[in-house]
Amino acid sequence: MKVDGKVALITGGASGMGKGFAETLVAAGAKVCVVDFNSQCGEATVNELNTKHGDGKAIFCKCDVTSQTEFEEAFKRTKEVFGGIDIVVNNAGIGGESDDKWERVVDVNMKGTIRGTRLGMHDLSKDNGGNGGIIVNMASAGGINPNPFSPTYGCTKAGIVHATRCYAISEEAVKSGIRLMVLCPAFVDTPMLQNLSSGDGTQVIGGDMAKVNAFIEHIGVMSVEEVSAVFMEMIEDDSKNGLILRCAKKTGNQYCTLAVENV
Ligand SMILES: NC(=O)c1ccc[n+]([C@@H]2O[C@H](COP(=O)([O-])OP(=O)(O)OC[C@H]3O[C@@H](n4cnc5c(N)ncnc54)[C@H](O)[C@@H]3O)[C@@H](O)[C@H]2O)c1
Repeated sequence: MKVDGKVALITGGASGMGKGFAETLVAAGAKVCVVDFNSQCGEATVNELNTKHGDGKAIFCKCDVTSQTEFEEAFKRTKEVFGGIDIVVNNAGIGGESDDKWERVVDVNMKGTIRGTRLGMHDLSKDNGGNGGIIVNMASAGGINPNPFSPTYGCTKAGIVHATRCYAISEEAVKSGIRLMVLCPAFVDTPMLQNLSSGDGTQVIGGDMAKVNAFIEHIGVMSVEEVSAVFMEMIEDDSKNGLILRCAKKTGNQYCTLAVENV
């Protein structure tokens, strides 16, 4: 896909990788709707993008991806302002394994991503006035390779991998020219990772942060810019559909359908 002139909707676009993807897409000539439940951060990101790249390149929609109504409104507003949607990035996600957090992880990561995929499939569909396009879902290396720290998080990400691959071969996707890809980075230097490694331990089973930080160091940490570069390759390469893109600091980038070995 040629990104110049296209319209993207990015959930979790206010910070971290979502913000990096928004910046990369706008720099390549796209218009972007930053969708996030954090208004302060979302408005700041959009102001930054419009100041740097010119007014009207980005808008912000406040939306919690667990809300069907708010999510539908974000799609509607993006189409009203920019005239259509070509790229949907379901990137919003959280971690948390404690008794009071794990169910919210399922709601945000798994249900939020399926909700965004369903809305994307509908709006990109040629039957509903769309022109096809691409849906990128954010999973994680933790959704491919098991680790002892984050079973709920890993389960939601494994579910995202599987759902994305199923949608990619659906009749509707083929008929409308919708590609679906799933991104599985290992550790990336974002607020989420910084909170994990310095946090209270509720994001992991057992809360043993010394072991978690040793694991992070063993795997290595990518920059947002490195992940944004492979994200753009994936968007631009129309030959790829239904594939997992794994990326990790030490092992590099690989497209695959199923992972067979641990990093
Ligand atoms: N950082 C990593 O090491 C890493 C590795 C692999 C995958 N991921 C995944 O990448 C995605 C982005 O994470 P990040 O590291 O950039 O984290 P981040 O915390 O910097 O960004 C996540 C964004 O999602 C938003 N968000 C969270 N819950 C939301 C909700 N219910 N509705 C709308 N917005 C919501 C947050 O406000 C934030 O802006 C997540 O899905 C995460 O699981 C992260």
